[in-house]
Amino acid sequence: MIREVITYPNPILRKKSRDVEFFDQKLHTILDDMNHTMQEYGGVGLAAIQIAIDLNVLIINIPVDHEGDENDGKQLNKNLIEAINPVITHKDGELVFSEGCLSIPGFTADVTRAEHIIVEYYNRFGEKKVMEAYDFLAIAWQHEMEHLNGHVFIENLSFLKRKKFEKEWKKKLKENNKNRN
Ligand code: CO
Repeated sequence: MIREVITYPNPILRKKSRDVEFFDQKLHTILDDMNHTMQEYGGVGLAAIQIAIDLNVLIINIPVDHEGDENDGKQLNKNLIEAINPVITHKDGELVFSEGCLSIPGFTADVTRAEHIIVEYYNRFGEKKVMEAYDFLAIAWQHEMEHLNGHVFIENLSFLKRKKFEKEWKKKLKENNKNRN
C-alpha cells in the first residue's frame, strides 16, 4: 500500500524512532509499504518516520546500471537495502554532496558527511548484517539514519542558509495553501 510521505515542518519528523522488537508480518507490511511508497514518490531512500511510523527502519534503493543488464524492475529490486535497527560503527573521510529529501520536496542543498562508513543492522528476518559503504551509498545511509534520530538534512546547513531556506519554504507552503483554496 502506498502511504503518504509527511513533509517538513510536520512535528512527527522530529520524533526519535525506537528499535524494532519483533520481526513479524507487521514489520514486513511496513517494509513493503515503504518500498511501494518510495517507488511511487521516486526517492532513493525512506525512513519509517517519513510515513509516520516511529521505528528504526529504513530502506535505500540506489539504481545501479550494470553494463548489459536490462534496467527493469528486478534490477532495481536487486539493489534494495532494508535495514532494521541500524548502527554506524565506523565513519571516516569527508564528502560534500547535494542532497534532497522526499519530506522536503523540491529543495536540495550541499551537506558534508563521512565518505566511508561501516553499519550494522538486521534484515526483515532478524538476521544480523554488516555493510561497508562509500560515497553516495554512505551518504544515503547517513541521511536516512538522521531521520531515525528525529532530524532532517537541512539542520546541517549554516545559520544563513537555513534562514534563507525557512523563508523560501514558508512562502512555498503559503502558495500551496492558496492553490488549494
Ligand atoms: Co530524507
